[in-house]
Amino acid sequence: MELQLWKEILTPYDLAVDELQLKFNHIIKEYKQSGKYSPIEQVIGRVKSISSILEKAQKKNIEIDKIEVSLDDIAGIRIICQFIDDIYTVVKLIRERSDMKIKSEKDYITNMKRSGYRSYHIIVMYKVETLTGSKSIPVEIQIRTLAMNFWATIEHSLQYKYHQNIPKPIRERLNSSSEAIITLDNEMSSIHGEIMDAQNFYIIKSNVVSDILNTIQNLYKVANKREIVKIQDEFYELYEKSDIEQLERFNRQLDIISEGYRAQGI
Ligand code: GTP
Ligand code: MG
Repeated sequence: MELQLWKEILTPYDLAVDELQLKFNHIIKEYKQSGKYSPIEQVIGRVKSISSILEKAQKKNIEIDKIEVSLDDIAGIRIICQFIDDIYTVVKLIRERSDMKIKSEKDYITNMKRSGYRSYHIIVMYKVETLTGSKSIPVEIQIRTLAMNFWATIEHSLQYKYHQNIPKPIRERLNSSSEAIITLDNEMSSIHGEIMDAQNFYIIKSNVVSDILNTIQNLYKVANKREIVKIQDEFYELYEKSDIEQLERFNRQLDIISEGYRAQGI
């Protein structure tokens, strides 16, 4: 098949990956804006390269004109989470969406693959609009923790290096490192609460601080400069103390001050 034709075939897959990355990143944003911990740490997307598509089709004996209906992973999204619990939160989130229709699910966390690979896979059907009309295409969403991703990335590059025939001693070490990753994930889960509290603190603090800075900036336009300087000094002092409640109180006071200016019609 001509290269140009391939590029045309891949256009909707490209669009699907772009849209889904945007949507999952927006979920992170929504959590952070509402001062909540986000179950999604990072989102990565890719469209399979033409050479990998051809290689896979050859390996699986798929005819060229059947590739589109036979391969579910031309479009791929990878969602990285901090904790195992987060993975199931994301799965639930995907199940509840109206723009992604679940075609199949594989839980390689409960049922680890023999290689030691762990991840949660969902194939969704996702509709995109192109110049030639709308098209529903499969997207493989892989959901895994940072630790699982670390293992899978290294194992994948070794598979590549040894052309799918990783020598036995290395295979054994990969298996034991997979066990270590399970221990790490479980250890992280057990201190989950503490880690989340610490993160929440920073999210809330950064939200309050950006609120305060915004208000101060707006006050610049209307208030007396000496008053602004006083407010700023007060803010820096509170900021150094890192006391969220005091910062929140300060934020409310500032709101009242700027409300006062608005009431004066300035
Ligand atoms: P594929 O022919 O690979 O698509 O097999 P499948 O359709 O049974 O899908 P499966 O869910 O097993 O794997 C899909 C994807 O998960 C792969 O393309 C990899 O990205 C990843 N994956 C699966 N198994 C492994 C593994 O043992 N090691 C690594 N590093 N990744 C894996
Ligand atoms: Mg597959």
